[in-house]
Amino acid sequence: MSLDPHNAVLFGSGDELPSNHSHNPHLSELIDQRRRQLLAGGAALGALGFLGVSLPQAVAAAEQSAAARPPFGKRNRLPFDAVAVSRADAITVPAGYRATAFVPWGTPICGRYPAFLEDASNSAQDQAEQVGMHHDGMHFFPLDAQRSLVGGRQSNHGLLVFNNEYIDAPLLHPNGPTTVDGKRSSAEEVRKEINAHGVTIIEIRRDVRGDWQVVPGRYNRRVTAATPMRMAGPARGHALLKTLHSPDGTASRGTQNNCANGYTPWGTYLTCEENWAGYFATRDADLPRELKRYGLRATSRFGWDTLPGDEFQRFDATRKAAAAEGDYRNEPNHFGWIVEIDPFDPDSTPVKHSALGRFAHEGLIFAPVQAGKPLVCYSGDDSQNEYIYKYVSRAKYRPLLRQPGRLLDEGTLYVARFNADGSGDWLALDIHDAAFQAACSAAGVSFADQGEVLINTRLAADIAGATKMDRPEWGAVNPDNGEVYFTLTNNSSRTVADAANPRAANPYGHIIRWREDRRDHAGQHFAWDLFLLAGPQADSRGPGGAALDESNILASPDGLWFDPDGRLWIQTDMSGSQLASGPFGHNQMLVADPRTGEIKRFLTGPIGAEVTGISATPDFRTLFVNIQHPGEGSSATNLLSTWPDGPGRRPRSATVVITREDGKRIL
Ligand code: FEO
Ligand code: CA
Ligand code: CA
Ligand code: CA
Repeated sequence: MSLDPHNAVLFGSGDELPSNHSHNPHLSELIDQRRRQLLAGGAALGALGFLGVSLPQAVAAAEQSAAARPPFGKRNRLPFDAVAVSRADAITVPAGYRATAFVPWGTPICGRYPAFLEDASNSAQDQAEQVGMHHDGMHFFPLDAQRSLVGGRQSNHGLLVFNNEYIDAPLLHPNGPTTVDGKRSSAEEVRKEINAHGVTIIEIRRDVRGDWQVVPGRYNRRVTAATPMRMAGPARGHALLKTLHSPDGTASRGTQNNCANGYTPWGTYLTCEENWAGYFATRDADLPRELKRYGLRATSRFGWDTLPGDEFQRFDATRKAAAAEGDYRNEPNHFGWIVEIDPFDPDSTPVKHSALGRFAHEGLIFAPVQAGKPLVCYSGDDSQNEYIYKYVSRAKYRPLLRQPGRLLDEGTLYVARFNADGSGDWLALDIHDAAFQAACSAAGVSFADQGEVLINTRLAADIAGATKMDRPEWGAVNPDNGEVYFTLTNNSSRTVADAANPRAANPYGHIIRWREDRRDHAGQHFAWDLFLLAGPQADSRGPGGAALDESNILASPDGLWFDPDGRLWIQTDMSGSQLASGPFGHNQMLVADPRTGEIKRFLTGPIGAEVTGISATPDFRTLFVNIQHPGEGSSATNLLSTWPDGPGRRPRSATVVITREDGKRIL
């Protein structure tokens, strides 16, 4: 979603204000310009760094040897012509490709299959039976994935599962939201907003003409901001999770602001709670650390808390009763988690996995799973000056066992420290870890148990000495070599540059990558470098080491995905003046090849939209991409975009189905 620092008003844009006021310094050691260029430079240097050569040695080696060999054999150039930056209210893709809008907001999927009404007069119950608003992270599950041990192979029939991150209230209702004296006045309206959030699960099939259709089948389901869920992991049943609704701290209601996603080796979907803090209000002046460090404020974003009744009052975290079991002071502690949903069981209860930490989770990506090795996954905390985390399961992965839950509920959460010399360390946030205990003592902070550490993940990471990053968004793991890539989208509040975040007030963002020492994803040390500095031609550096050019300039990288052949797909989330009048045109999607250093723009989006969410069929002949908030800022009487339905009709977030005209693999 777009960044609006003036967020403390009803219906403001939803990214959170920075709330990291810890004294954790940004790494103050600046690297010089020459070294920075080399760092951003490319495959050759990156490979040296990852071969265990120290950074100064690597820099010297790269300077001496222009012929330093890339780690892989040569590959052909990207087989498409880059599309130009665009300001059209349309999707553009290269010649030879087709892009078709699919399952926009309001598409009927279950229950009574209520048709979408053009004037947005669908009821709250209708919305619960339709595709939600503002598509984001997404995964295609082949229909045979449920019974397969290798993720399924079916490419013409499956479940498409995607997040519905948030809403544009002016477009969700016929004439926008109604308020009286700054309070919401319609329970029906707010219920519709709650039902427009969450996750959409739909069975889809490719017909004989090659077009994808929704199957009105038993899998189709909406998970919303009100769906019953349960807590799991070390924080389950914690005193800080006790509420009027859940006196034993085990039951949760709903998921919200679901940004990027993940999927497990056992065929379930993971949805990630990002900018959830803004959904709550508190009138308490003296906030406990588990609310203060997450930026809880006096006013909520949509004002759901201003209506009477338990279903709305749970968004009011003000202390009202003598004990936590009598109010919703702890309700915000039920959010900021990774939520697991079994898309193949429409009756299943989603599970919030507390072992993965509580923060503004962007997504969750898994290192390649190996039998007999721990499960490892990575997640970024998308807020200014927050951190990148890694989770390592205690138990070993056993592909022949169906073992959902346990692997994600018992393990160690680590946070990343990026050292200026190109090395990095994973710092355990574990109450039984000696280094963490020492750091807590030094900081004069104590935690009662591991559940409390996890509910206060950000504070624990501050204490451990993590590196403040420029808004970590998506991650992706290169199937060629296990390198982990992460987007750092921008950071207007960075005052001091450091090695891993080399631009103060970073307006354009960059992509960092690392390789775990000895390629052991469960280990505690890594080597990193910068893959790309986004920006205009005069202030950028591509993966090959040269400045970006008109075929690939971009800013605010966000979505990230490796295709099966090791090419990196990059999606952007520019906003504000950068989107309106920068040199980058509309938000876009590019393809980079880490083997060759080539990068080209593949897609441009419609007016005011973010490009986010990406998945493909196993045969890689269909690519699914999401377009979020086209015409952002529109109202019923002022449509800034009319994508995808055309003139006079409200803009709608939607999935885009991309195929090649010749029916072959996408790349
Ligand atoms: Fe929902 Fe970090 O984007
Ligand atoms: Ca978004
Ligand atoms: Ca995002
Ligand atoms: Ca973003």
